[in-house]
Amino acid sequence: MHVVVTYESRTGNTEKAAHLVAAGLHEAGVTVSTFPVDAPDYGALATADAVVVGTWCGGLFFFGQHPGGAGKIAGELPDLWDKATFAFVTYAHNPGKAADKLGEVLEAMGSVNLGVGTIHRNKLEDDAAAFVDSILREFAAT
Ligand SMILES: Cc1cc2nc3c(=O)[nH]c(=O)nc-3n(C[C@H](O)[C@H](O)[C@H](O)COP(=O)(O)O)c2cc1C
Repeated sequence: MHVVVTYESRTGNTEKAAHLVAAGLHEAGVTVSTFPVDAPDYGALATADAVVVGTWCGGLFFFGQHPGGAGKIAGELPDLWDKATFAFVTYAHNPGKAADKLGEVLEAMGSVNLGVGTIHRNKLEDDAAAFVDSILREFAAT
């Protein structure tokens, strides 16, 4: 199993979360490639069994939440023809439906989005571990 973890991060929280997710998957025996969306490893993307994409939650904190890096993700990553994807956002107070919206962005790029996660910026370790568990459960079920 080979999984790409790619991210768009402004202030570093999503980057840290992405590396925690990658480390958790690696501990479970998954081969992982990790890079920011603006420096894609096309070879890894082509051969990956699944792609995990993370960004930050933008919005007005209690409404209008959206995946902050969606434009950059759609602009920088190649089309994800039939790839399995998982989407996550990091957030400060309330992510709303930002992670679901990121999943929709990935599906618009051609993927089949299998799951979403939200990772609080002050609980990166715990929330990343829960997201990894949800990914591993999905792998076990398919
Ligand atoms: C312009 C802006 C809008 C934000 N809006 C929200 C929001 O609506 N809800 C929320 O929970 N966090 C919001 N945040 C907080 C970020 O999502 C959070 O700090 C995130 O972890 C930043 O990720 P990064 O360090 O990878 O850039 C916002 C941050 C910025 C800069």
